[in-house]
Amino acid sequence: MSVQSAIRRKTAADIRRRKGGEPIVMLTSYHAHTAALVDRHCDVILVGDSLGNVMHGFETTVPVTLDMMILQGRAVMRGSAHALVVVDMPFGSYEASKEEAFHSAARILKETHCGAVKLEGGVRMAETIAFLSERGIPVMGHIGLTPQSINVLGSFRAQGREQEDWAAIESDARAVSEAGAFSVVVEAVAEPLARKITQTIAIPTIGIGASVACDGQVLVLEDMLGLSPRTPKFVRRYGDLGPAIEAAIENYARDVRSRAFPAPEHVYGMRAKG
Ligand code: KIV
Repeated sequence: MSVQSAIRRKTAADIRRRKGGEPIVMLTSYHAHTAALVDRHCDVILVGDSLGNVMHGFETTVPVTLDMMILQGRAVMRGSAHALVVVDMPFGSYEASKEEAFHSAARILKETHCGAVKLEGGVRMAETIAFLSERGIPVMGHIGLTPQSINVLGSFRAQGREQEDWAAIESDARAVSEAGAFSVVVEAVAEPLARKITQTIAIPTIGIGASVACDGQVLVLEDMLGLSPRTPKFVRRYGDLGPAIEAAIENYARDVRSRAFPAPEHVYGMRAKG
């Protein structure tokens, strides 16, 4: 077996085939080193535009640019070898027309070598999803709470908690699936609705604040590690790195101030002559 076939990455088609099967495991990553860790355990790595919040401290994902996504997408590709890497299309890079979406998505694929892109929107993006899919660009959809629309929505509220809102969200799910997306993120959608959507559409659903019945789950890595200042309701924390990192920094600062660091083993002596 050649080295290349031994490290073959998962593809969008592999993920599409997982409908109704073993749950798809997905986490975000924006850096080479975390990508290497995530890659050992996950099927999909999402280079999410949540990097705008996590890495850059923006209040929303709206300011994130295509160049920012491409830079971090390249880092994640360098750090990983097995998982499918999906790069988010940022706000303003795809909504104006399907042609604009194609140019942005093609740049992402060409410059990062990732395997797929993700974009937000259901019925309104169906034509674009079909246009990209038919032209060789695998698309992951994203419905329910779509954070790029925050300026219209007004708040990051869960969707579909009133029965009268269900029809529109179900139409979004159907539209994305029928347009040719290989999977769809279902974010912050009432549990019974997320379950129903999973049972009725043909492609895998990947839940975040949705339902255990989804075909997979995704979380923002920093949220589940306890590194984010705020933990949303739908996050289970698998670590408490914030306090651990702060304690390490405090210890480092104390050692530098007391000249306990660097110790003799951390400095270079002169090489012996002859
Ligand atoms: O940007 C992101 O991290 C996402 C996930 C929350 C699904 O879109």
